[in-house]
Amino acid sequence: MSTGTEPALRVADLHVRYGGSTAVRDVSFHIDGGEVFGLVGESGSGKSSVCAALMRLLPPGGSLRATAIEFGGRDLSRASERDMRAIRGKGIALVPQKPMTSLSPTTPVGRQLRWYLGERLDSAQTQQMLISIGLRAVLDRPGDLPSRFSGGQLQRLLIAIAALTHRPALLLADEPTTTLDATVQAQVLRLLLAVRAEVGSAMLYVTHDLAVIAQVADRIGVMYGGRLVEVAPVAELFAAPRHPYTRALIAAMPSAWIEGRPLRPIPGSAAGANRTDGCPFAPRCPHADTICQETMPTAVMAGAAMVRCHHAEVTV
Ligand SMILES: Nc1ncnc2c1ncn2[C@@H]1O[C@H](COP(=O)(O)OP(=O)(O)OP(=O)(O)O)[C@@H](O)[C@H]1O
Ligand code: SF4
Ligand SMILES: [Mg+2]
Repeated sequence: MSTGTEPALRVADLHVRYGGSTAVRDVSFHIDGGEVFGLVGESGSGKSSVCAALMRLLPPGGSLRATAIEFGGRDLSRASERDMRAIRGKGIALVPQKPMTSLSPTTPVGRQLRWYLGERLDSAQTQQMLISIGLRAVLDRPGDLPSRFSGGQLQRLLIAIAALTHRPALLLADEPTTTLDATVQAQVLRLLLAVRAEVGSAMLYVTHDLAVIAQVADRIGVMYGGRLVEVAPVAELFAAPRHPYTRALIAAMPSAWIEGRPLRPIPGSAAGANRTDGCPFAPRCPHADTICQETMPTAVMAGAAMVRCHHAEVTV
């Protein structure tokens, strides 16, 4: 739950481009201190690009512009690379998607942990924390290479490093459990939430899985075609989803099927999601009419939700 009053992060009008194509358009949101903000959307909707832009770690060929990315009294969209190096890991830490690519494969895990935690690794408190999150094996076998540990253990290790090294004000978790099997996913997710609560960080949690985000987030942002099409508190998003794409995502959730409702796959594909001459969701939307085809919807407030739809009040 949100505990702070000042936003930990405020993003205004973020755009990300790769060469000639735009991956993120006009994205604005904030995350309060201590809050978990979930970012959900289909593959290719721009979630990772938002994360990479916040860290200013876009791949070669990627560029960003924004009215502002406010964090810790700074505008990250204009900060120097030197300032960003001071912020990465300390102010904002990333929990990566693939643990094996984020650790040195040729360095024993104990030495890698010491790089980050230094003398704190020897304190009883740190060791107890590592044991409580299932990392006794790392303490018992510090000379072993990462390849001698499971994916779940390595992901726990990276969560510990991201959260405990500098107790960052903001954690970015980009699909942190998708490479793990289902049982381990649940354990790692619980661990991430526990560590986040202990440190008191705000968190941006990225996933394509609405069922996961429902367990994790205080508020949710739904992305489609590089745009945020709905932002709402989690209870409101599920009780009264305003955007037809959000409604389709909820209807397609396995839990909706388990409760006896028919599973409804979202018709069509995301092709055309980049159009700018009308609503990008129109080719897949059951409510699309002439205005939807001809005019891009702007962001409006409906209750506690921000929604980009000409017919946000239409009920299914
Ligand atoms: N390095 C890159 N060069 C060119 N285009 C890219 C690059 N990275 C991402 N894109 C494009 O940007 C768009 C958004 O990609 P992004 O990875 O941000 O989506 P995503 O929502 O994180 O998807 P996923 O759920 O598959 O991780 C996609 O159309 C993708 O093809
Ligand atoms: S603006 Fe029109 S096409 Fe787009 S989501 Fe809303 S109703 Fe559907
Ligand atoms: Mg991604």
